Amino acid sequence: MKVTLLMALTADGLIGRDDTHLTDWTAAEDKKLFKSFTQKAGVVIMGSKTFETLDRPLPGRKVVILTRQKDRVAPWENVVFTDLSPDNLLKSLEQEGYEHVVVSGGATINALFAKQGLIDEIILTYSPVIFGSGMPLLAGDVSMDLALIKVSRMGENMIYAHYKVIH
Ligand SMILES: NC(=O)c1ccc[n+]([C@@H]2O[C@H](COP(=O)([O-])OP(=O)(O)OC[C@H]3O[C@@H](n4cnc5c(N)ncnc54)[C@H](OP(=O)(O)O)[C@@H]3O)[C@@H](O)[C@H]2O)c1
Repeated sequence: MKVTLLMALTADGLIGRDDTHLTDWTAAEDKKLFKSFTQKAGVVIMGSKTFETLDRPLPGRKVVILTRQKDRVAPWENVVFTDLSPDNLLKSLEQEGYEHVVVSGGATINALFAKQGLIDEIILTYSPVIFGSGMPLLAGDVSMDLALIKVSRMGENMIYAHYKVIH
């Protein structure tokens, strides 16, 4: 199972101003990348706070929402809530036939996967905005070694950076 962390960052490395901040500050190219990349993988995993900022089903892919509220049920067929640990969730998705999943926020859920050494690659898209203070890519104490695979200009104003995680 391949696990990609895909996140939009500000030029000062933040993912949002606070934990309720909708990611509405990125350009159309970024939204297009998120849509095509997650649809191709087939699954996107996110935390319940991130899902609350979206509150819509993201069609064309399975959307797995991590929550500790076991009884939550989504009104959409492609959205599931789970309290499985990241490793057990990946095993379960593998049993369903998925080979690639995208983890996409927020800081809490990213760190949960990173701390268990489950992330294989990271794709970051940098937008030309600065928040000064806000949410980091990964919450808490996490360290990872990365190798840069590709960096390029994205659209008019953005940077695309693709890293491999060195395990
Ligand atoms: N820039 C980007 O690309 C991007 C992408 C995604 C998100 N974001 C931003 O990230 C922010 C939200 O990040 P966040 O760190 O506050 O929240 P989050 O990671 O989206 O979700 C945290 C929630 O996940 C659940 N959770 C935590 N640990 C869990 C565990 N071990 N097992 C199951 N569920 C668990 C809890 O929800 P329950 O209370 O339901 O149990 C917790 O409140 C927002 O501002 C959003 O816009 C930015």
